[in-house]
Amino acid sequence: MVSEGSKPVRIGLLGRGTVGAAFADLLAERAAAVEAATGRRPELAGSLTRSDGDFDSILAGSDLVVELMGGTDASRDYVLQALRAGKPVVTANKQLLAQHGDELFAVAREAGVQLRFEAAVAAVIPIVRTIQESFGVTEIAKVFGIVNGTTNFILSEMAATGAGYDEVLARAQELGYAEADPSDDVNGADAAAKMAILARLAFHTSVTLSEVAYEGIEAIQPDDLAYAKELGLSLKLLGVAERRDGGISVRVFPCFLYPGHPLAPIEGAFNAVMVEAPAISEVTMSGPGAGGLQTASAVLGDVVSILAGDAPVHETRVELPIVEDVSSSFYLHLEVADQPGVLAQVATVLGDHEVSVKSVVQRGTGSDARLVMVIHECLESRFAAAVEELARLDELRSPPRSIRVIEEEYSA
Ligand SMILES: NC(=O)c1ccc[n+]([C@@H]2O[C@H](COP(=O)([O-])OP(=O)(O)OC[C@H]3O[C@@H](n4cnc5c(N)ncnc54)[C@H](OP(=O)(O)O)[C@@H]3O)[C@@H](O)[C@H]2O)c1
Repeated sequence: MVSEGSKPVRIGLLGRGTVGAAFADLLAERAAAVEAATGRRPELAGSLTRSDGDFDSILAGSDLVVELMGGTDASRDYVLQALRAGKPVVTANKQLLAQHGDELFAVAREAGVQLRFEAAVAAVIPIVRTIQESFGVTEIAKVFGIVNGTTNFILSEMAATGAGYDEVLARAQELGYAEADPSDDVNGADAAAKMAILARLAFHTSVTLSEVAYEGIEAIQPDDLAYAKELGLSLKLLGVAERRDGGISVRVFPCFLYPGHPLAPIEGAFNAVMVEAPAISEVTMSGPGAGGLQTASAVLGDVVSILAGDAPVHETRVELPIVEDVSSSFYLHLEVADQPGVLAQVATVLGDHEVSVKSVVQRGTGSDARLVMVIHECLESRFAAAVEELARLDELRSPPRSIRVIEEEYSA
């Protein structure tokens, strides 16, 4: 509990933008419901923007602090001050947690107060709560999913319309699904921050953003999607955090999925996250991964948990090495001279690196040919070496393009 008795719980709000303003409205609207659920009536003690409010007086007048400013400098400073002052904090700030999680969780632990952050990953999908509480003592093998709605919208549109990346990005910006500066979304950095947070929770280990290998979707071509359709695959930007070879691998990459995969039908700006563990098989949750009201709703859920007194302070218990070289399946797109012997030459290079082909589609384009292959799972370093050698073949007309493929079968 934040404090005893029937006095209202004073909430200090840092940031009153898209999420902060929605949170202030939602708090006023749901105050009676929060009181009915927790016995404590929440009220806004004050709010801070760049041009209005004073942090010190907001902190002094609050029992609980909600950080919805974004950024990692001022927000880090304010969250640390709040925790050290013994005030529980709720934040939606993925970059703050992914970059400074060790420090923030240590200070929360020392101060004996909660730091809650459901909205930082996949907004309203309760994945943080599920991993921390429902699966708190489950040996999780893998957490993965679509954790960036902007890129999922762009890829869904490219697949549906055949339009190019730049055209679809401009449309996403017009519709409000992409920021004016979409860099962190499209280059995978936003998803990487979320995966660092999920990996930390799932494996009880310290994971920071710098340990997440990420790739974005900027290089995806419309014909990658057209050929994928022919092979029955759909393209998603996936975040994957999994146990591998005594360590963990945390990565973000564009990836083809077979039909029947639970993430294949997730279209548009939606997010979806799967958790796998021997004890639970697999669980999939999907829903809106952004939006002022949706994110504010997740923030209010955290406030209610704190007032109800449930929730553990997060613990990191083990050290797990990051495994760099893992096995994956790939789609490989080659433009080659349409002449006898080229396919055999490509097969020899792949064979020399112990890379085996699952399926091939070949198309003539005048004097050239396109080879589109699906490669069986192999070590990524081995595949990269094969691609490097293929790129040097005289018969190659443009640099090889490759995208990972998840081959696992799921019962639909
Ligand atoms: N938008 C979403 O759908 C969404 C979804 C999930 C998570 N989040 C996370 O939620 C947080 C807030 O996002 P948002 O979209 O609401 O951002 P936003 O619309 O840009 O609002 C940010 C607010 O914080 C204030 N602010 C920023 N820096 C400040 C500083 N140094 N000192 C005082 N005030 C400061 C801004 O003040 P001014 O009003 O004066 O500019 C503004 O009121 C971010 O961490 C974001 O990653 C957002």
